Amino acid sequence: MSIKTEEISSLIKKQLANYQDQISVEETGTVTYVGDGVARADGLENAMAGELLEFENGVYGMAQNLESNDVGIVILGDDTQIREGDTVKRTGRIMEVPVGDALLGRVVDPLGRPIDGLGDISTDKTRPIERKAPGVMERKSVSQPLQTGIKVIDALVPIGRGQRELIIGDRKTGKTSIAIDTIINQKDQDMICIYVAIGQKESTVRSQVETLRKFGALDYTIVVSASASNPAPLLYIAPYAGAAMGEEFMFGGRDVLIIYDDLSKQADAYRELSLILRRPPGREAYPGDIFYTHSRLLERAARLSDDLGGGSMTALPVIQTQAGDVSAYIPTNVISITDGQIFLDADSFYAGQRPAIDAGTSVSRVGGDAQIKAMKKVSGTLRLDIASYNELAAFAQFGSDLDAATKARLDRGERTMEVLKQGLHAPQPVEQQVVTLYALAHNYLDDIPVDDVLRFESELATFMRSNHQDLYDSIKQSGQLPEGNELDKALDSFKEGFQTSDQKQDTQVAQN
Ligand SMILES: Nc1ncnc2c1ncn2[C@@H]1O[C@H](COP(=O)(O)OP(=O)(O)OP(=O)(O)O)[C@@H](O)[C@H]1O
Ligand SMILES: [Mg+2]
Repeated sequence: MSIKTEEISSLIKKQLANYQDQISVEETGTVTYVGDGVARADGLENAMAGELLEFENGVYGMAQNLESNDVGIVILGDDTQIREGDTVKRTGRIMEVPVGDALLGRVVDPLGRPIDGLGDISTDKTRPIERKAPGVMERKSVSQPLQTGIKVIDALVPIGRGQRELIIGDRKTGKTSIAIDTIINQKDQDMICIYVAIGQKESTVRSQVETLRKFGALDYTIVVSASASNPAPLLYIAPYAGAAMGEEFMFGGRDVLIIYDDLSKQADAYRELSLILRRPPGREAYPGDIFYTHSRLLERAARLSDDLGGGSMTALPVIQTQAGDVSAYIPTNVISITDGQIFLDADSFYAGQRPAIDAGTSVSRVGGDAQIKAMKKVSGTLRLDIASYNELAAFAQFGSDLDAATKARLDRGERTMEVLKQGLHAPQPVEQQVVTLYALAHNYLDDIPVDDVLRFESELATFMRSNHQDLYDSIKQSGQLPEGNELDKALDSFKEGFQTSDQKQDTQVAQN
């Protein structure tokens, strides 16, 4: 067999042509410092901001400080096995998390790894945790309500889909409870919920997951948890990871509700890692870009235009204050980025006014457009009523002689405050809230003793469901109050049969 020289040379040429392709250039660097959850490495000249880096032992890190001679890396895992002189290599990828339906009903860490012991999550879709927020032209204005099921919120500080509403208050004032109850109320509303727990105790997160499971709310919820025992970098990235998971649904045309509980702890984690990375501290020792940390996160909440599928992501960030001080650095920052705030007042909480929402300082800047007409009508004067009641109540403490008009306003105020109380995990459908507030606004509660108001409310709801479901349905479907005096007739007939506690006692005495 003879071999042609041309063949040989063409083979060699082919080999040479392919040769370049087979080399993969992997850029590696060397760790020069490690400690407190951060590392520095040199030799990673081309690393990108936020790029995922892999250490020799498989632990991941994220490139943070890109300096002329080295790179500051936050370590997303155990830093005790990493030593000076170890190699660290670029992955060429920006930090990503798994996304998609497979995550629903699961509890994951900020890297999207399951921590609920229910096995692997099988999804091949991922999204970068940081993404530029939708621009002006990609958005639509907020027009659809997100019902929280909590009377005082839906009536006074209504939230629309795509809005950002801050929940702010001191420790233990019911912030998380509002968030959890809102998730519970999204059952059968075609809403995906994401609860991002940042820096909370594992036991607390566990009990919240159990609550969601008990009310059948876990099926449409993803819980992302970076607990207090996790290193600061994980707490820092948790909300971005949650937002990425939400965006997958939002860009798929779905409605999403995301809760960041809470961003104060995230800010603290970011301050910690910034100080260790030796970034210059600013006010309250937070780094200079702390505002951007929160603004770029909250801007990702949006109501998308029809061209983009019309999906939405509603964000409810939570901020903890110290002694009700809303003028501290982080609270003022976040108040200025959001479309309103729900302010929880510790004093009213301890006085038993729960949920302890302060009607004077709580506002919703866009949600009013989304509120249904019937609710707008019955809640119109609520805010003023409460304000004038609070003012009068302070006065009435001193004087005993009150004129009839003042007395009437005080009485109405007391009943209003009572009606706005609501227990835990008992969200109410909007039509039920409308009827209750209608009764209040149309003087049906004025002669009911304050202690009987909540019983009146719940018995009224039962009565309506069994005798006037049609009225409930019409409010729900049309968003309007029923025409004519149907509702008044129903309320009259209910009130005739309602017994106050005193009347009940009297009948008992008479029977004995
Ligand atoms: N509407 C309510 N009715 C009765 N109890 C409530 C209500 N809301 C909250 N609570 C109770 O108040 C306590 C504190 O509530 P929650 O954990 O929601 O507050 P928080 O502000 O999130 O607290 P933390 O500062 O620990 O995050 C809980 O024990 C909860 O059961
Ligand atoms: Mg809480």
